[in-house]
Amino acid sequence: MKVGIIGSGSMGAGIAQVAATAGHEVYLCDTKPEALKTAKEKLQKILNRLVEKGRMDDPTAKAIFGRIYFMNDFKNFGDTDLVVEAIIENLEIKQSVFQSLEKIVRKDCILASNTSSLSITSIAGACEHPERVIGIHFFNPAPLMKLVEIIPAIQTSTEVLEKSRATIDSWEKLTVLAKDTPGFIVNRVARPFYGEALRILEEGVANVATIDWAMTDIAGFKMGPFTLMDYIGNDVNYVVTETVFKSFYNDPRYKPSFTQQRLAQAGYLGRKSGKGYYDYAEGATNPGPIKDEFTCQAIADRIVVMLINEAADALFLNVASKEDIDTAMTKGVNYPKGLLKWADQIGVANCVKQLDELYDLYREDRYRCSPLLRRMAKANQTFYA
Ligand SMILES: NC(=O)c1ccc[n+]([C@@H]2O[C@H](COP(=O)([O-])OP(=O)(O)OC[C@H]3O[C@@H](n4cnc5c(N)ncnc54)[C@H](O)[C@@H]3O)[C@@H](O)[C@H]2O)c1
Repeated sequence: MKVGIIGSGSMGAGIAQVAATAGHEVYLCDTKPEALKTAKEKLQKILNRLVEKGRMDDPTAKAIFGRIYFMNDFKNFGDTDLVVEAIIENLEIKQSVFQSLEKIVRKDCILASNTSSLSITSIAGACEHPERVIGIHFFNPAPLMKLVEIIPAIQTSTEVLEKSRATIDSWEKLTVLAKDTPGFIVNRVARPFYGEALRILEEGVANVATIDWAMTDIAGFKMGPFTLMDYIGNDVNYVVTETVFKSFYNDPRYKPSFTQQRLAQAGYLGRKSGKGYYDYAEGATNPGPIKDEFTCQAIADRIVVMLINEAADALFLNVASKEDIDTAMTKGVNYPKGLLKWADQIGVANCVKQLDELYDLYREDRYRCSPLLRRMAKANQTFYA
C-alpha cells in the first residue's frame, strides 16, 4: 500500500512515521521546504533515538526512514491508495487541496482528513467523489498515542469506512467510530475538564493548584486541568473551545471562559511562553494547593459529573457507542476510567442528583442533565451489566 501525506508538521510527520513503521511506502509532501526539512531531521532523530534506546534495530530504523519520500507537492500521488491530509485547520484551504488532489489520485484512492474540528461532510461536499472521503483523526504525538477516531462523512461509502478502519487497525492503533459532529468524541467529551475547572476558578472556590490537586490526587487524573492547559497552550485550547461552542450554535454548555481568553490575549500561553496559569520562570514561586478535603472532593465531584454528563449526552445523541466513548477517553486523553463506567460506579441516580443540584443553584442550561442519565436513573439502569 502507498500512503500519501499532505502537510509535514507535527501531525503529518508523526503519521508518516506510523505508516512507514507499518511497512508502507510513504510520500510526505509540504509546500514549505523548511517544514519538510524540519520533518526529515525530526524523523531521523526520533528513529536514531529508538535505536539508541534499544527499541528498534538499526536496519529496521533505516528501512523505515528509507520508505518515506519527501516532496514539495502532491503531483506524484497518482499511485497512492490512501492520502491523509494534515495541513492548516482551515476549511476553504482543505477543500481546495482535496479538489486538486482528486485530479491526481486514482479513483479508488481513499482521501482522509486529520482535522480536529472541521466537518468531514463539508470537506467531502467539495469533492467530485465524496464517497471516498473520511476523517482519520490521530492524536498528538501520533506515534505514541494509541487512539484514532474514524469519522465517516454522511457521504462516505461503507467500503471506504471498512477499508480505512482495517488499515488503521493494522497500524497497531486502536480505532473508535465517531459521528461527524463537532469535536468528534474526545474534543467534545473533554470540554468540561477545562470549562468547569475554569468556572470553579472564576467563582473563587479555589486556586489553580488546588483544583489541579483535586483532579490528580482525588479524582486520579494524570494531570490537572490547569497544568494540562499550560501544556496545550492557552491560545490553542481557547480556539478549540471557541470552535466547538460556535459549531454547537452557542450551546451554553461549551461557552468559552473569559479567564482563558484574557490569558491568550496577554500572551500567557503556558509552558511555551514561560507563563500561563503557572509561572515557569526559573526561581518563580507558585502558590501551592490548599488540601482541604471537603472543598477538594466537591471540586473533583463537580468536574467528573460534568464529564460524565457530556459522555452520556454523546451516547444519547449517537455520536459513538458506549464502549468507544470510554475507550476514546482512556486511550486518547489517558483518563483514569471510562466515564460511563465511572457513572456506574458513582451510581447513575447519584450523577443525576449532583447535576440537578448544580442546575437548581445556577439555573443555567450549562448544567442540564442528559435525558439519557435521567431516563436510566428512573429505570434503575447501568451502562454496563
Ligand atoms: N497538533 C495537534 O495536536 C493536532 C492533533 C490532531 C489533529 N490535528 C490536526 O492536524 C492538522 C495539522 O495540524 P499540525 O498541528 O500538524 O499543524 P502544523 O502547523 O504543525 O503543520 C501543518 C503543515 O502543513 C503545511 N501546509 C499548509 N498548507 C499546505 C498545503 N496546501 N499543501 C501542503 N502542505 C501544506 C504547512 O507548511 C505545515 O508544515 C490540522 O488539521 C489539525 O487540526 C492537530
